[in-house]
Amino acid sequence: MKIALIGYGKMGKAIESVALTRNHTVVLKITADNLQELTIQNLQLADVAIEFSQPDAAYGNVMKCFGAGIPVVCGTTGWNKLADDAKKICREKNQTFFLAPNFSIGVNIFFALSEQMAKLASRFPQYDHISIKEIHHTQKKDAPSGTAVSLANDMVKNISRLKTWKSYEGEQAHDDASSLPVYSYRTGEVAGIHEVNYSSEDDFITLKHEAKGRSGFAKGAVTAAEWVQGKKGVFDMKDLLEL
Ligand SMILES: NC(=O)c1ccc[n+]([C@@H]2O[C@H](COP(=O)([O-])OP(=O)(O)OC[C@H]3O[C@@H](n4cnc5c(N)ncnc54)[C@H](OP(=O)(O)O)[C@@H]3O)[C@@H](O)[C@H]2O)c1
Repeated sequence: MKIALIGYGKMGKAIESVALTRNHTVVLKITADNLQELTIQNLQLADVAIEFSQPDAAYGNVMKCFGAGIPVVCGTTGWNKLADDAKKICREKNQTFFLAPNFSIGVNIFFALSEQMAKLASRFPQYDHISIKEIHHTQKKDAPSGTAVSLANDMVKNISRLKTWKSYEGEQAHDDASSLPVYSYRTGEVAGIHEVNYSSEDDFITLKHEAKGRSGFAKGAVTAAEWVQGKKGVFDMKDLLEL
């Protein structure tokens, strides 16, 4: 498979390593310094684009891939509202768009466990202190993380006493029982830690996922690029993993 890497930072480089070990070739690498090379002609040299750039660039980059008629696998987080527009445009133009806030298989198992836990907690109001905590490296541009936003949306959907979620930088007082606090921490070189915490008068229940590095995200993105070949439409990790 010939791959165009749109965004060649920490993730782009990790994806390239995985792609090369699977005998794929990288035909285009885009950073902020060579944006003029992100043309329809250059994109059409690739079978698939993998887009891990930054929140304000993702929409335009995905549109360019649709223009070139090549499938795009996108991991950039923090552009949720425009991502919904991109999904709509993908369907209208009969293009291929695979979007995931987290490509790690472990995190997607964690999403499924969290959904189960939320459904159970909805039946047990004694778990009256529920929260999400996420920790990432200091260069991360968005907070809360895309993964935490997915967890939060799903918990609000499944726990009837929660109406919304609220984002905080670090630990802060939160006394509104109808909203779910999401605490974000930025420190060191942490690849990604997510916790969902349930507390009652009697006990704590915690689900936790900790990435050991970026390889899990990179393997998932390359697997998605392989899987999406020959498909049309909008996909995510639930489709790939049949969760
Ligand atoms: N879905 C997942 O599983 C997952 C996992 C990890 C991270 N992420 C997300 O992936 C994104 C990238 O993360 P990262 O850690 O690789 O960030 P990073 O190290 O900052 O890399 C970003 C790359 O994008 C380039 N870039 C900047 N503007 C661009 C534009 N307009 N078009 C194309 N490329 C552009 C940067 O170029 P310069 O270096 O020249 O500025 C750099 O090469 C973030 O949104 C992050 O949250 C997702």
